[in-house]
Amino acid sequence: MSHTVSPLRIGPIEVWPPLVLAPMSGVTNRTMRALYKPFGLGLTVTEFVSSNALKFGSKRTMEMIDQHGIERPVSTQLWGDDPQTMAHAAKVVRECGADIVDINFGCPAPKVTKTNGGSACMRDPDRCEAIMRAVVAAVDCPVTMKMRLGWGEDRLVYLEIARRAQDAGVRALTLHARTARQFYKGDADWEHIARLKRAVEIPVIGNGDLNDAHVAMRRMRESGADAIMLGRATLGNPWLIAQIRDLMEGCDARPSPSAADRLRYAIVHYRAMLDELGEARAVPQMRKHVALYLKSVPGAAQLRERLMRLDRADDAIALVEETIARLESDLAA
Ligand SMILES: Cc1cc2nc3c(=O)[nH]c(=O)nc-3n(C[C@H](O)[C@H](O)[C@H](O)COP(=O)(O)O)c2cc1C
Repeated sequence: MSHTVSPLRIGPIEVWPPLVLAPMSGVTNRTMRALYKPFGLGLTVTEFVSSNALKFGSKRTMEMIDQHGIERPVSTQLWGDDPQTMAHAAKVVRECGADIVDINFGCPAPKVTKTNGGSACMRDPDRCEAIMRAVVAAVDCPVTMKMRLGWGEDRLVYLEIARRAQDAGVRALTLHARTARQFYKGDADWEHIARLKRAVEIPVIGNGDLNDAHVAMRRMRESGADAIMLGRATLGNPWLIAQIRDLMEGCDARPSPSAADRLRYAIVHYRAMLDELGEARAVPQMRKHVALYLKSVPGAAQLRERLMRLDRADDAIALVEETIARLESDLAA
């Protein structure tokens, strides 16, 4: 079968397939990325890491940037508003194994924007440029940047910041096609991704609301994006990644797994998180994941309620196993 899309090239790094897992704070830790990568991702990105926090190098922060695992290539994302602090942080993450350093100009969360980080940087394109130039000068690997359309509807600065990024030596751009003020409301407007693609020569990664394999491929084709990035829709459904990869490889998209198979994988995911993080940290994180794997299982709402009350991993896994047995006996009947 011949491929239907080309690899993404980020400087000297070739990414195949051009399918990227979105950075998601509190979600895309190393275990999660390693679990999802084999479904068919070309590139994974860490949760964002505060450049300020890297000055202190706490154990938790260092764990977030340790990139000596199995995924290659991997990108480490940084946020902050000070060019020199960002440059220092970039050097540290590069030493800790990042193949790519990604700059976050997209986060709308108040804890980030109140210190002018994330999407708040987009209110000051000069500052964005200074940060990008400092980071590019600090490392010997490609630097990329992820942004939104702008702070608010009244000032969509993504094209201006993209051109400055290109001039500063940034090697690829991701656009989540919403404004910061929108948070996650409304729809991502892929027309802006098409506009960005026409405005710059460096690769563009389109992001926002991709939750179906055929729609994702259509969005990529119509916008001209060089790659697509998937976030929320992969949670509890990593098979979406495999379906898109199938289409990129010129095959039919594989069918979605049965509910019982989804839940069997939820247990694999649970055990991997337990091994890596221990029970106290894995249980709260796995509540949200299992809740998503349970989506569309009959009685999901009650199961989720029970799950939220369980504090022990064994009990949560037993609940999932019991659900699988029920699904199978329903099927047999
Ligand atoms: C829980 C969560 C955490 C996120 N954390 C980050 C982050 O650390 N860095 C970042 O650039 N974007 C972050 N995002 C935004 C996603 O990367 C992505 O741009 C957004 O979810 C839109 O893509 P989607 O519609 O495919 O989910 C986060 C999104 C969610 C839902």
